[in-house]
Amino acid sequence: MRRGAKGEERKRQPSSLVSRPSPLLNVQFNYFSRMKVLMVCLGNICRSPLAQGILEHKVKQKGLDWTVDSAGTGGGHVGLGPDNRSQEVAHAHGIDISAQEARRIRYSDISEFDVIYCMDATNLVNVRDICHSLEEEAKVKLIMEESDPGKKLDVPDPYYGGASGFERVFQLLDRACEAIIENHGDHRQ
Ligand code: 4NP
Repeated sequence: MRRGAKGEERKRQPSSLVSRPSPLLNVQFNYFSRMKVLMVCLGNICRSPLAQGILEHKVKQKGLDWTVDSAGTGGGHVGLGPDNRSQEVAHAHGIDISAQEARRIRYSDISEFDVIYCMDATNLVNVRDICHSLEEEAKVKLIMEESDPGKKLDVPDPYYGGASGFERVFQLLDRACEAIIENHGDHRQ
């Protein structure tokens, strides 16, 4: 028997498939004992490494058993670490993303991950383009829809701007990742 957040005794979730409705798309998302989340932007050096680092940090704080990864729809930075400006803003908030390495999204990611969060509408379209079914496409979502449903907000590309753009990206992603935990984390413990 496990104890919940308020100390009450709770039965362990069965490791078999658990289904719950998405509050956003009104489709069923299926979770196994570990939720697997993929963060996606264009280069996988600015936004999605931050999204991965922030969600991993929150997952660890909550004691959840999730897998979080990130990838890019473009292949121009494969093998590189996160942009220095992303590393700096993460570090300023107590998060180390220096060990990450950019990779390009592949079709196997679509079945491998339970949910794929895109940073903006262009990446959403490009990831849905590699899906083979509507069921697969339903896994692909805009990350800001978790915290700001219905607004279709993008996380803006900070690559050609200054440090303030990276802080803005951090704040948006922190809000979205907090909502991801709130919306999907309760059934994990
Ligand atoms: P990201 O940012 O998609 O958040 O990693 C970018 C990184 C590189 C480029 C554009 C956006 N680029 O044009 O090289």
